[in-house]
Amino acid sequence: MSLKIAVLPGDGIGSEIVSEALKVLEVLNQKFDLNATWQEATIGGAAYDAEKDPYPASTQALVKDSDAVLLGAVGGPKWEALDKPLRPEAGLLRIREDLGLYANYRPTKVFDQLLEASTLKPEVVQGVDILVVRELVSGIYFGQPRGFEEYKGERSGFNTMRYCESEVRRIARKAFEAARLRSNKVCSVEKANVLEVSELWREIVTEVHQAEFSDVELSHMYVDNAAMQLIRNPKQFDVIVTGNLFGDILSDEASMLTGSIGMLPSASIGEEFAMYEPIHGSAPDIAGEDKANPLATILSVAMMLRFSLNRADLAEKVEQAVEHTLDAGVRTVDLADGQTPVACSAMGDAVCAALEKLA
Ligand code: IPM
Ligand code: MG
Repeated sequence: MSLKIAVLPGDGIGSEIVSEALKVLEVLNQKFDLNATWQEATIGGAAYDAEKDPYPASTQALVKDSDAVLLGAVGGPKWEALDKPLRPEAGLLRIREDLGLYANYRPTKVFDQLLEASTLKPEVVQGVDILVVRELVSGIYFGQPRGFEEYKGERSGFNTMRYCESEVRRIARKAFEAARLRSNKVCSVEKANVLEVSELWREIVTEVHQAEFSDVELSHMYVDNAAMQLIRNPKQFDVIVTGNLFGDILSDEASMLTGSIGMLPSASIGEEFAMYEPIHGSAPDIAGEDKANPLATILSVAMMLRFSLNRADLAEKVEQAVEHTLDAGVRTVDLADGQTPVACSAMGDAVCAALEKLA
């Protein structure tokens, strides 16, 4: 039986990076024994342009009939002036919510080959291997009430940061489970010295730990301190579990330990569905120029093979192919650091060639 992948390139560099990831899947089909098929649909600004809806019904139907979703990126200046529900980002938030993708895994692994690409000292980042587990379908991104209103005689905007205990419990479990497969440490990040929502978060994480995961080492950290510690001494972290907003911010920060946000894949997983995407955005400034780094998307395919398609063996091959490509000195412009950069498509070709050699 073949595995069905829904492919949503989205906007900006989305179609370029996704094309390279599809080349990799093609090699896995041809030279390895993967039996995957895929079908494309629109999301974000591209979907708005086609159907006046950033997450149209046709895309909803396709993703729900697939074993996994591969997404590029959404957003761009072209759609910034639209009403909020029509904007590309609204499409992304809706697909996350619609598919119940509450657990977002963002691994930050520093490749030795790229030590010099980081703006931090090599000795600080060498060996960094952090997994940010971000809650993805609740918190301030989704909390009600929200909006604009007149307040104390002037315009105001407001949002609600709310977590229910069941939402904290399920993401905490995912973080502890992930830690057991790694270095067995979880750091829960919140702002419990100020926010009630964080006080509850800390209480529930502690409860889950005591009841089910006391073999895992648990610590708690305020988000401001965590932002500082990530730069000061990132190697202290194994798994970081945190809410939607803090996870958004800390995962971008953590990505720069690796030298480029263009290296970071992610998996968003719920009870029934899963979606894989690079953590970076649609980079409208370089869209259409064949300059983007496709490695985050290719590494997202590796995560898909491991978590959704049950092919950890092939995930390892893809990761090895990426390592071999970096060993050979192939660099896109974000990683180039003085060297002559290659195009997005050339990076994809190089990974495919390295992968074929592993067949
Ligand atoms: C991310 C992005 C999104 C988010 C945006 C595009 C809505 O920054 O996936 O990290 O904030 O979640
Ligand atoms: Mg983000």
